[in-house]
Amino acid sequence: MSEPEFEHITVRRLHPLFAAEISGVDLTAPLAEPAFAEIAAAFNAHAALVFPGQRLDDAGQLAFARRFGDLEVLQKGAIGERTLLAGISNVDPATDDIIPADDPRLLRQYSNELWHTDSSFKRISARASLLHAREVPATGGDTSFACMRAAWDALPADRRALCETLVAEHDFAYSRALTVKDDFLTPAQKAEVPPVPQALVVANPRNGRKALYLASHASHILGWPRARGRALLDELTAHATRPDFVYTHHWRQWDLVMWDNRATMHRGSAYDYRRDRRVMVRATVAGDAATVSADDAARAAAAS
Ligand SMILES: [Fe+2]
Repeated sequence: MSEPEFEHITVRRLHPLFAAEISGVDLTAPLAEPAFAEIAAAFNAHAALVFPGQRLDDAGQLAFARRFGDLEVLQKGAIGERTLLAGISNVDPATDDIIPADDPRLLRQYSNELWHTDSSFKRISARASLLHAREVPATGGDTSFACMRAAWDALPADRRALCETLVAEHDFAYSRALTVKDDFLTPAQKAEVPPVPQALVVANPRNGRKALYLASHASHILGWPRARGRALLDELTAHATRPDFVYTHHWRQWDLVMWDNRATMHRGSAYDYRRDRRVMVRATVAGDAATVSADDAARAAAAS
């Protein structure tokens, strides 16, 4: 990978394959275009960026996130529903108390411990997520990232040729059922997030880099018997998350981490959900376009 030149920010690699720390910039102040352009270039190059020590409030986080594009509105049932900021948190924003263990708002977050990309269950899935650490637990609660470009590059040629023809179905209800239970979502919630097709391989239109596109939301391969599709998805996920493709971030308060959902997967590690407070706030940048056309998805579903 050729390294972009940077004058307005300092870039330090965190992993041989991807992920970099960005310093020398204050995201709480208005950001001049030259500095933003360098951050955008670093983001396309490294796919995951860590900005330490950014004491952002909600407005500041939203302002920075909006520089990358339109933001997603959060679905019903999540902390922050119907707003632009998701609470990845075990603290009730209304009471400031730790959420009870059986509260659905907490239960649904256990699925964050599965490898996933954000919003791949939407027809136009998220491009980027920006997660800000407001309160961090003493132990646990790390976030690991897997480099899906490296996973693609390392695939054998015959596997690449196969994957480029395939479309997976992604389903929010499927991934929640893996960690909670089958009927966790109400019929109304399910209707809000119907299953959607996603290409198994995506390219970043800004630099052409290809990546595997996987997530715990991916339930099966369209047009394939379910067991065969599951076997391939499990094989690809194991390949993509092998240790040398993974960077694990140990959060410090006021870290802002942003990642490309179409070039990485991520998962959170457990922490003491009943005792330790963890308050993370996420803004999510919407994608530009679907990963697969309706015609190609229909063709894939009809294939056998
Ligand atoms: Fe996530």
